[in-house]
Amino acid sequence: MNKYIINGGKPLYGEIEISGAKNAAVAILPAALLINGKCTIENLPNISDVKISCDILSKLGAKIEWINNNTITIDSSSVTEFKAPVDMTSKFRASYYLIGALLSRCKNVEVGLPGGCNLGARPIDQHIKGFEALGATVNVSNGKIQASAKNLQGTSIYLDMVSVGATINIMLASVLANGTTTIDNAAKEPHIVDVANFLNTMGADIRGAGTDVIKINGVKELKGNTSYSIVPDQIEAGTFMLAAIASKGDIIIKNCISEHLDCLTAKIIEMGGHVEEDGDQIHVWADSRPNKANIKTLPYPGFPTDLQPQIGVALSIANGTSIINESIWESRFQYTNELNKMGAKISPQGKTAIFEGVEKLSGAPVYATDLRAGAALIIAGIIAEGTTELYNLSHIDRGYENIEEKFRKLGANITRVIEED
Ligand code: EPZ
Repeated sequence: MNKYIINGGKPLYGEIEISGAKNAAVAILPAALLINGKCTIENLPNISDVKISCDILSKLGAKIEWINNNTITIDSSSVTEFKAPVDMTSKFRASYYLIGALLSRCKNVEVGLPGGCNLGARPIDQHIKGFEALGATVNVSNGKIQASAKNLQGTSIYLDMVSVGATINIMLASVLANGTTTIDNAAKEPHIVDVANFLNTMGADIRGAGTDVIKINGVKELKGNTSYSIVPDQIEAGTFMLAAIASKGDIIIKNCISEHLDCLTAKIIEMGGHVEEDGDQIHVWADSRPNKANIKTLPYPGFPTDLQPQIGVALSIANGTSIINESIWESRFQYTNELNKMGAKISPQGKTAIFEGVEKLSGAPVYATDLRAGAALIIAGIIAEGTTELYNLSHIDRGYENIEEKFRKLGANITRVIEED
């Protein structure tokens, strides 16, 4: 089993560059199936969720060419296959976007139920409600989802809860439908806007992305023949901002959009840290232990659940007692058991966890329980005294490009050890 060995105790200093957004990339790749031609995608994060998405697209008949580490061309003009291999789709959550994309492209789809991080129940009833409202028949059985439609007809869809996945999936299914589709109570995350911008660049007519009402005027086809650059990953940028605060360091984070991180910036200032925004870079530093703070995770523009474990590490060593309320995922406090092995004093109780700040953490063997938990435990290892061994790296590889190189560039002593099982 692979592991990181982290010798901690030193602040992080220096500059790093943020990669393209994972959660935009894993939606934009299936969205490319809608194009009757070729497109180029730039600033694509080189992570395992992207590699598996590309492998699935190839199996479906798309022609993929890697131009460099972060740029690909996709030619979907000859895609007719609508069955995605179950063993591949069950490896990651975002495979659910193949349902909307293939339904749109082929009027027919069969995929395995999506896998991904274990964050508790992850229903897709709102996605299915959207497909059915557009005229599809959907059947879930034997670990697979099948959907088909003679015609997809634009309609009004009200989401019962704000869902990133359902908003994007309904957008994908309705881009080529007849007439206009309206999504009410839509999610507003930057990656929703990015997927809409990508589709519009390729010839779609989507309006209102980034607000809670999105209108999709169906078009006959998407022609492509152009290129699109993926938005910077605000969760990766936020991870490094929190690493600066937790380690009492000083980091300049380049290639990011500071407005996407306003809620985190406000919290970091409340915690006694410093943030200076300058064009596409953010300078973050701290000269003392963080102050306590209370957090409630919410859909964008609220505090993102995907930064909850990372801020949890900073609060575990804060001056005073903090409370985090997790309102999106029921099992997102699993990392707190691992942090407690490193000397933290955290009591999770259902959707709430109480963080009694301790002066320091100490190195220990710990396990990444999911992607963001993995990133949080790297930060914990970096600020802890002594040596941390961090296992289950496949979770981290799913969503962070070159994370150990980036932390090493900032002065962290982190090494990947590849062990035979
Ligand atoms: C996306 O998941 C992200 N994944 C998650 O990122 C992120 O945590 C989450 O949005 C919230 O921001 C991708 O973009 C691939 P939701 P998604 O639909 O789309 C409930 C990471 O670490 N719900 O917005 O699956 C659901 O249970 C990850 O990068 C329903 O009840 O999340 C949850 O409580 C992990 N029925 C809430 O809504 C539905 O049909 C929000 O889920 C859909 C969702």
